Amino acid sequence: MYFLGMDVSTTATKALIADEAGRVVGSAASEYAFETPRPLWSEQQPDLWWQGARQAIRAVLEKTGIPNNEIAAVGLTGQMHGLVLLDERGKPLRPAILWNDQRTQAQCDEIHRLIGKERFTQITGNLALAGFTAPKLLWVRENEPDLFARAAHVLLPKDYVRLQLTAGYAMDKADGAGTVLMDLRNRTWSDEVLEALAIPRAWMPELFEGPQITGYVTEAAARETGLAAGTPVVAGGGDQAAQAVGVGAVKQGIIALTLGTSGVVFASTDGPIIEPQGRLHAFCHAVPDKWHLMGVMLSAAGSLRWYRDTFTPGLSFDDLLLPAEKISPGSDGLFFLPYLTGERTPHPDPLARAAFCGLTVRHTLAHCTRAVLEGVAYGLKDSFELMKSSGLASIEQVRISGGGARSSLWRQILADIFNCELVTVNTTEGAALGAALLAAVGTGFYPDVEHACEKTIQITGITRPDPETAERYARSYPLYTALYPALRPTFTASGN
Ligand code: XUL
Repeated sequence: MYFLGMDVSTTATKALIADEAGRVVGSAASEYAFETPRPLWSEQQPDLWWQGARQAIRAVLEKTGIPNNEIAAVGLTGQMHGLVLLDERGKPLRPAILWNDQRTQAQCDEIHRLIGKERFTQITGNLALAGFTAPKLLWVRENEPDLFARAAHVLLPKDYVRLQLTAGYAMDKADGAGTVLMDLRNRTWSDEVLEALAIPRAWMPELFEGPQITGYVTEAAARETGLAAGTPVVAGGGDQAAQAVGVGAVKQGIIALTLGTSGVVFASTDGPIIEPQGRLHAFCHAVPDKWHLMGVMLSAAGSLRWYRDTFTPGLSFDDLLLPAEKISPGSDGLFFLPYLTGERTPHPDPLARAAFCGLTVRHTLAHCTRAVLEGVAYGLKDSFELMKSSGLASIEQVRISGGGARSSLWRQILADIFNCELVTVNTTEGAALGAALLAAVGTGFYPDVEHACEKTIQITGITRPDPETAERYARSYPLYTALYPALRPTFTASGN
């Protein structure tokens, strides 16, 4: 028996087949671009995702030679927050407005004015941020009223692919929470928020828990993808929740840290924990009746890539990092602030900027390299601190994945700065594998998501903090946190 996980990301749609033990037997991806027709805008045509899905599914079936009737179920995941607005026949009315689109600050302010920041955060668990879905609906109403008048359905990117596969309008609760139109505690659409924003309840699809079956592959979709008609499709989850399932961060106390271009600190929680100022995202988990808290750093491994490409172009990451091992922890007083593309957590500030602070003539390139690794680690620690002060009782283990996790030096710095054990796991396929595991639970192959993760995900490496270095970093951390407030007026004034 096999399970197919599909990740509808910003850059590609990936289809992956896993066996009963969670081993990946094959994957295929079909790439596409996104458009930035104006400054701050980021859009994609929904049909690109469906085209990508058809190609990737066909390719993975062909590559692995697995007969389609052995695929027991399909699980979906994908980029969160993108507004897919459809007419009553399910046709897209305009390109989707993506998670990284920044045009809606005025609509976010309007939402806070209409409902009150505090009340809105109490209900949805979050502030209205420009990337989220709700303010995008208000933007379309204000700027494209004719088109808005023809709207009948709201979906998120992966749910548009679901519509093509199953002919059903459905959404999982993890991704649903990222619209900020849900009542986070009750895991339902919020009538209060929908009414205050005058968004018809009928536009919103039915909500499902991650492993629940939402529909079955239709005859037409079977012809287009090569899947068997009648294959069940489970709800799945937004990419961050599915990624957490894919590394086994499904119990309170276990954190998934993804060190990609951005850095995500994802904590599974048994109940809804809300950071009152909305500096952390609080969404439902893809695990039934669980929630999660999430901190997002916009330039994590992205900072290191920028640094390498700018100052030592052509050098491999290994050659770049080797000399930094010789530099003592704290980089002899040099700090790096990682806000190269603004920030979300802990400073929701698009104008935040990066900086090296404390340079002297004694500092070398190796010091700067180490300071970049440390600065990203301090910035991620900010998310841990916010989680603790919001009521997350304990952090037992951090499971690290993503490109940055390959560096043993960076892993040691992170363990020392967090003062916490860091582990790597045997799974590297992230969100698509998480979606396949949710499919396995949906068919009843595993009784629940926790069991599925226990059976399929093993720890492959442990990095333990060194107590002396951890203490040193603990003394430097307050100096790091003092830098953003001190420099902020200069970021705002320069306005670039
Ligand atoms: C999560 C977020 C991104 C997108 C794109 O809040 O914005 O992870 O889902 O991958």
